[in-house]
Amino acid sequence: MNILRKSFITLAVVVCAALLMTSTSNKAVSADEELNIKQIMKQAFKGDLVRKVGTDKATAEEKQQLLEMSKVMAGMKPPQGSSESWSEKTNALIAAVEASIQGKPEASTLLKKTTNCAACHKVHKPK
Ligand code: HEC
Repeated sequence: MNILRKSFITLAVVVCAALLMTSTSNKAVSADEELNIKQIMKQAFKGDLVRKVGTDKATAEEKQQLLEMSKVMAGMKPPQGSSESWSEKTNALIAAVEASIQGKPEASTLLKKTTNCAACHKVHKPK
């Protein structure tokens, strides 16, 4: 991952976090939140960040980026599915990334489970 891309991700995380802090329950904001989950999906999940962290090839900085993105996601409302299921999945994801940051042996198993694309999309991604 080159430096430009890295700084773009950092910027995206900062923007997401800022949006999150100012977010209330109005409709315009929920449209932004959906856009931001998509953004994170493209950056971290479809990109190589999740794969790198999952195979323990990520740098400490990259792991931190994924952690921040997971936290941003946890604070968002999923476009589909219950918020209970969403917080369960995103909090499990946060715990898995934290385990990886701490170098725990169970991290890769946890990451495999919590970054499972189909398992989350089936419940939370609109068709
Ligand atoms: C914790 C839940 C979760 C996990 C895990 C997850 N996704 Fe997603 N993903 C979503 C949600 C929710 C959406 C729908 C976002 C929306 O429509 O606003 C989505 C949408 C997407 C999209 C469409 C983005 C767009 O612009 O419409 C892509 C691509 C994607 N995910 C890739 C992946 C890949 C690849 C993985 C596995 C490595 C993955 N996702 C794992 C929740 C998840």
